[in-house]
Amino acid sequence: MRLAFIGDIVGKPGREMIGRYLQEIREKYRLDLVIANYENASHGFGITKKNYQELRGYGIDAMTGGNHSWDKKDVFELFNQGEPLIRPVNYPDKSPGRGWMVLEVADTQVAIVNVMGNYTMPMSDNPFLKMQEVVAQLKSEGIKHIIVDMHAEATSEKYVMMHLLRNDISALFGTHTHVGTDDLIVLDGCCYVTDVGLTGCRDNVIGVDKKIPTERFLTGIGGHFDIPKQCRKIFQLIIFELDGEGRAVEAQKLRIYEEGEIQSQTAKMESFGF
Ligand SMILES: [Fe+2]
Ligand SMILES: [Fe+2]
Repeated sequence: MRLAFIGDIVGKPGREMIGRYLQEIREKYRLDLVIANYENASHGFGITKKNYQELRGYGIDAMTGGNHSWDKKDVFELFNQGEPLIRPVNYPDKSPGRGWMVLEVADTQVAIVNVMGNYTMPMSDNPFLKMQEVVAQLKSEGIKHIIVDMHAEATSEKYVMMHLLRNDISALFGTHTHVGTDDLIVLDGCCYVTDVGLTGCRDNVIGVDKKIPTERFLTGIGGHFDIPKQCRKIFQLIIFELDGEGRAVEAQKLRIYEEGEIQSQTAKMESFGF
């Protein structure tokens, strides 16, 4: 089966790029499932019900979150209704929402798990121990197709998680930094990239107007982040192929610029032998 993973969608410019290009990509690559990170979809903070429906209408099947999962209160209703959107699994059990979901895709059960790193992030349970627990449970239920969104600041945490789980999961995609990295790899059947990068404005600071973050660094005082009204936009996603055993076979990163240019990077299966 062929799937796609989109990183942090930041505000209206991000949603516009999804609306403009996703349907065409779905058809061109014959995608069976599209997953995207929603944590900044509504003006940079969380997701409203309206924007959730808008993104679903553009062709996103399932959504993952992060530290901004709960910023818009509409999400509580979406969680309660059992919509296919999740929040990090290592938040306390009492936190609204769930940390993983299983979807039926082309007669196969596909699990999507969301986990948050520790470094500079809000307090949560140990992500590594939690993920070992969750993956063991999914495997015991016979689920082999497991896709993880690791929402974290530190590159090292994401690498360690990939090495820890790579024989049991199909893919691990990093989100949260909004800056895409160039280390896409398919290692022993696990597709990995440290950060997919944002979809939204690419000409300011991680998708938000550069004015407030600049003030914050120059004075130590900052205001509320805003999304630029006009900007140069980008749409970034990973397209990856999984075999019947849930192993990744090949992957491709696409960077689609609103000016029309498309850059791509491919990764084929490799092994380090350990
Ligand atoms: Fe984000
Ligand atoms: Fe985040």
